[in-house]
Amino acid sequence: SKEGYSHFMLKEIHEQPMALRNTLAGIERDEVTKIGAELADARHIFITASGTSLHAGLIGDYLLTTVAGADVHTFTSSEYRKYMKTAGEGDVAIVVSQSGETIDALLALRALKSAGVKVIAISNVMDSAIPRESHLAIYTRTGPEIGVAATKTFTAQLMVLTILAMSAAAARGYVNDDEAAYFMNEMEQVPDVVQATLANNEAKIKRVAASISRASSMYYLGRGLGLPISMEGALKMKEVAYIHAEAYPAGESKHGPIALVEKSFPVLFTIFNDEYGEAMEGNIMEMKARDAYAIGVIPKSLEERLDKVLDIAIPIGVEEPAIATIAYSVPMQLLAYYTAVARGLDPDKPRNLAKTVTVE
Ligand code: M6R
Repeated sequence: SKEGYSHFMLKEIHEQPMALRNTLAGIERDEVTKIGAELADARHIFITASGTSLHAGLIGDYLLTTVAGADVHTFTSSEYRKYMKTAGEGDVAIVVSQSGETIDALLALRALKSAGVKVIAISNVMDSAIPRESHLAIYTRTGPEIGVAATKTFTAQLMVLTILAMSAAAARGYVNDDEAAYFMNEMEQVPDVVQATLANNEAKIKRVAASISRASSMYYLGRGLGLPISMEGALKMKEVAYIHAEAYPAGESKHGPIALVEKSFPVLFTIFNDEYGEAMEGNIMEMKARDAYAIGVIPKSLEERLDKVLDIAIPIGVEEPAIATIAYSVPMQLLAYYTAVARGLDPDKPRNLAKTVTVE
């Protein structure tokens, strides 16, 4: 039942603090240490998934590459054939699938497995095909996700992948015991941060949704970890609000996409407290010079500074970027949801979409 919420999507967005708590409680520390060591030793790491799960995979890729120094190749499962000559013994693959039944991911898994790759599944459905056929499975524990748009399973996937990346970094000696303990402590705060993000921003996001609801097109721009989070935000907007939303690396926006920007064109910037802040600020100014409507999901520490250049600032109360990705996803979900509602659409029944894609 929707338990008083008007849609499953909204209910599931609000279930995230609980879903994240349960996921964290279900993660076995010994198992994570073991997998971290395997990832650290792997020749290549392949991450494969589709849609939202692919975006979670791209966050895993960024962290495994930058924090753990791993050689990671992430691809949409339907394109797995490209990687078959480079995959083999000594490699590890992570297959991410909420349902555990997506045919593209399943076919990629089978191909990687027969090439001799060790396969780890991340899924929300116990004993579904993908975890069953993998060598090892880790579960997100969000409870069933009914809404076609993935929400709580995405943030739970981010949590699992981030913890695995940190464990690989620890196994390689890039993170010491104190740093690892600090990181896990921060992760334990995430459900509360998500709760606060919901409580502090929902009313504001509803207003933003009303003002973008007549747009036919918009951009989501980010750098680093901000890119997969932008891609996921744009996918949500397309799926439920049917607005043509494109995500770009903010640095690419000048190489073509900016040609579309005119008065009131919505551009959503995802900015973390990281080395990309200044470049992102420059990108906001470029868009403002074309009269774009600039929305920023930003760290609290930059609020005073960026409030001056943005039309709308959505400050998030967590500074560590690797952890903040989870909380940053929440305003993106709410924005897509409330924009769909403002456009008179039913976010639980997006046209042309099935919850699980079982044909190639
Ligand atoms: O069940 P899976 O995680 O394998 O599903 C993958 C995609 O089909 C899925 O994430 C899809 O993109 C969602 N509708 C996104 O909201």
